[in-house]
Amino acid sequence: MSGWIEICALEDIAPQGSRVVASEQGDIALFRTADDRLFAMHDKCPHRGGPLSQGIVHGDTVSCPLHGWKIGLKDGEAVAPDQGCAKSFAVRLEDGRVWLKFGR
Ligand code: FES
Repeated sequence: MSGWIEICALEDIAPQGSRVVASEQGDIALFRTADDRLFAMHDKCPHRGGPLSQGIVHGDTVSCPLHGWKIGLKDGEAVAPDQGCAKSFAVRLEDGRVWLKFGR
């Protein structure tokens, strides 16, 4: 499984919370939804670079803490009418452990 790195246990990320993972590509925000799905994207809002990891997760989106843009967790795309995209990364859960793939 080249490129996959074990990050933490699922419990290390609060439901509707996030965790920041430092990488050579910049900080990556790992999100956990209320129903335990996981998503990852650059911790940088496509609007003006706000820290998405500090936003509020609701459903399949996160609201940027700076100006309130909603960013889709599945693809990093801003919800219309806003436009822009945060690069997303593959993430998976295996035996209660969270894995992240760099460079998708
Ligand atoms: S920086 Fe995210 S909404 Fe402006």
